This record gives sequence, structure tokens and C-alpha cells, in this order.
Amino acid sequence: MREFILDVELLVEADPRPGVRAADVAEALRDLLHDGDVLRPEHREPAQDGYRQHVVHVDPLSRFSIVSLVWLPGQQTPVHDHVCWCVVGVLQGREEEICYELDEAGVPRQRSTSHNTAGEVCWLVPPNRDVHRVRNNGDGLAVSIHVYGADIGKLGTSINRVYADPVGEHAHSGFPTSDG
Ligand SMILES: [Fe+2]
Repeated sequence: MREFILDVELLVEADPRPGVRAADVAEALRDLLHDGDVLRPEHREPAQDGYRQHVVHVDPLSRFSIVSLVWLPGQQTPVHDHVCWCVVGVLQGREEEICYELDEAGVPRQRSTSHNTAGEVCWLVPPNRDVHRVRNNGDGLAVSIHVYGADIGKLGTSINRVYADPVGEHAHSGFPTSDG
């Protein structure tokens, strides 16, 4: 993890464009996931009342943050968008991502669904198609590592706006419980 943090520092110094930073960090995160057990045990702790966020590292210059998100089976985020670029790598388990686009009235409509399993990495850059919901639809614990282009220690979350549940979808779990 310490090497990864140094890599991300170099990558954000190398290019100010959010899209380039996210793509570059995604490559580095893919390599990190190959190293296996890169999180301390306390950063893998779930919570019964909702998916759990642990702040792993905040850049001293507030340029990026690294958090782990831990999900028990069935736990999910609300439908939301983001304050900054985000890179997500699944360390363990299986995460389902439902992506939405907003209609003329600003109501989210499902666009696509994808599944990410251990070792897989994806990223998004607001305001381009960054409205989504993530859930653990597997049978066991899911753990993912997220790199955000903001100071999550100060903000508490990367979520910018929460949208009402689209008709026919399950009630959401709200914001994560956080140790941040
Ligand atoms: Fe998100």
C-alpha cells in the first residue's frame, strides 16, 4: 500500500486532467490488487447497518484519498453521483453496478448493469455518466478499494447528490457508516 500511495502521488503530479489521473490510477490499482492482502484487518470490517467506509489514506495536499468499502451480502449504496473522479478495484467478492442516465426531469433511468469481481477495476469522471448504485449481490463479504480525487477525510464521502430510488427498486441503505 505504501508503494501504491507513492505511485498515486507521482501520477497526480504528472497530469492535472481528471480523466487522465483516473485512467492512470486505475492501472496502478490493478497492479495493487494482484498483491492480494493489501488492507489491514480493521479496514476489512463490515457493519450490520449498512456498507462501511474506512479511510485508509488521505494525501497531505488533499489531492486524493484511498478508502476501503466493505459490504455484507445485499448491502448497497443509494443512487448517487460524485464530487470527483473515482477509481474502484474489487479486492474480494462481487459487486454489481447499476448505471443510470437522467431524463429531462432529472429522474434516473437504468442504463446498464455490470458485475465486478476480485481483481477488476473501473473508474468514472463526473459529470460524464457518473450516476450509479453499487451493491454486493454475492453470497459473501465484498471489499473494494477506492481512490477519489478529493479529501475524503474532510468531506466524509465522495457522494455529491443522492437520488430518490427509481420506481420498482429496493429501498437504499443511505450513506455508509464511516470511521473517517
Ligand atoms: Fe459511487
